[in-house]
Amino acid sequence: MFKKYILSENLPKHIGIIMDGNGRWATKRGLPRNLGHKAGIDAVVKTIDALIKFKIKAVTFFAFSTENWKRSEQEINGIFNLLRDYLAKNQNDFFEKGVKITSIGDLTEFPQDLVDQLEDIRKKTKNNDKLIVNFALNYGGKDDIVHAVNKLLKEGKNQITDKDISDNLYTNFLPDPDFVIRTSGEQRVSNFMIYQMAYSELYFPKVLWPDFNEKHLYEALKNFQKRDRRFGGIK
Ligand code: FPP
Repeated sequence: MFKKYILSENLPKHIGIIMDGNGRWATKRGLPRNLGHKAGIDAVVKTIDALIKFKIKAVTFFAFSTENWKRSEQEINGIFNLLRDYLAKNQNDFFEKGVKITSIGDLTEFPQDLVDQLEDIRKKTKNNDKLIVNFALNYGGKDDIVHAVNKLLKEGKNQITDKDISDNLYTNFLPDPDFVIRTSGEQRVSNFMIYQMAYSELYFPKVLWPDFNEKHLYEALKNFQKRDRRFGGIK
């Protein structure tokens, strides 16, 4: 019902989503935090459908940051279990919907079965071309830059360009995110793609992530389309 209002020629090429507010959503209902994350997964599923409907080609969900290890073991294992479950249960859907699953971040500290599961799904879905669904896992923007620079040093480079860095970031297979949405009203980027976000448009709706739906995405896209993007130049 919203489709006709979205102009196809001025849509973001890659949306970053910082899914904030799962904990508050659960606490407000007297539920444990992990039920907030569970509801957060349901919002991921609905958002993927809405992104396909609005013809967006790539999205990155910030699912686990390099700082999230500070949370309790119970919460961390809960998130890992939800991710395992999500990837296992949605395989058919990825094919029916044309979703390609990728991930960014340092997986060396992730449980090996989850790393294998992600790699298996990446390979299986690599030819799907409706929407790239990229999960940022043990991802930090600073870590991304350090990792890229270390790779360049290993190659023997002693002088590097912007392109060298971009080509070696975890996101080298994606355009920079032109639109970044952070739910829950917090207005921070929290070490998300800090290098790639140099010219991103930012949007901070008040809605808590588990309540985010197609209507919120539509409002976000409408807002993006009103932005005057000059990239440092003059119109
Ligand atoms: C932020 O809410 C959310 C997270 C740190 C984790 C988000 C993870 C998921 C939705 C599950 C991951 C799996 C997939 C498939 C993406 P918060 O806990 O910081 O909320 P609060 O600020 O209200 O406490």
